[in-house]
Amino acid sequence: MEPYSDNNDGLLQARELLARSQRVAAFSGAGLSAESGLATFRDPDPDALWSRFDPTELASVDAFEANPERVIEWYNWRRSMLAGVRPNAAHRVLAAQSRMIQITQNVDNLLEQAGVAPKQVYHLHGSILHDICHNSACDYRELVQLENPSPLRDCPRCGARLRPAVVWFGENLPAKTWYRAQQLCAELDCLLVVGTSATVYPAAGLITLARQYGSSVIVVDPNAGEARYAADIYLAGAAGRILPPLLAGLDLASNP
Ligand code: OAD
Repeated sequence: MEPYSDNNDGLLQARELLARSQRVAAFSGAGLSAESGLATFRDPDPDALWSRFDPTELASVDAFEANPERVIEWYNWRRSMLAGVRPNAAHRVLAAQSRMIQITQNVDNLLEQAGVAPKQVYHLHGSILHDICHNSACDYRELVQLENPSPLRDCPRCGARLRPAVVWFGENLPAKTWYRAQQLCAELDCLLVVGTSATVYPAAGLITLARQYGSSVIVVDPNAGEARYAADIYLAGAAGRILPPLLAGLDLASNP
């Protein structure tokens, strides 16, 4: 069955659904940060990252081992972009829901900048704000300077190379965060999905998992792909336009 997508009625219906839900979490992707000025990965937009760059040359262990300078330069370019942007209206209204967990695929910190407590954000794909040691036996980790990130360099502890603290294709999600995200999605009444193509697994599987355990799903995206078919209510539009009226006056919680 086609999900309900007329925005005015859909918005009211979605607000009612959220208001009667005991447990709600948000699951976001690159579309959440698009109105801040950060490019998404897979939009029809020619600026989308995977329209301009080949992920296999930039976001995998093989890519890093073959050409580490290139990979670091690309992440440093994205870090410089992040240094110049601010949270948008969607981040801010999500942050106002101070008891709600934010599960995100985003490696930026715009939710935290908007005021979400760091422990309330489950970063499934890691963080571009940190570097870690590429040697998995070494737990060295450091904060990077977004405005002036360092070029490729060695770990001061073990001498292996430092790399961004993000999850690359073929790597596992951070185990504890992934476990907690799955546990939470199995207990929800409603999952609010914002700005993700829902094509990258296992993260995208959270939508199906939540549904299997009885959660409703609201999707906010101007051009939703796969996620649309899992939606009970699909609100077609930009997060910064839809989320403020959707969430105004509500006090949502993930663990009441
Ligand atoms: P995608 O770029 O795949 O999808 C972005 C989604 O955001 C699309 O469905 C757009 O229609 C939607 N969108 C665009 N502008 C929007 C707006 N203003 N408001 C709401 N939605 C908007 O991004 P992700 O789904 O996050 O992984 O991609 C998942 C993963 O693929 C990323 O975490 C990254 C990438 O490869 C890794 O790097 C491991």
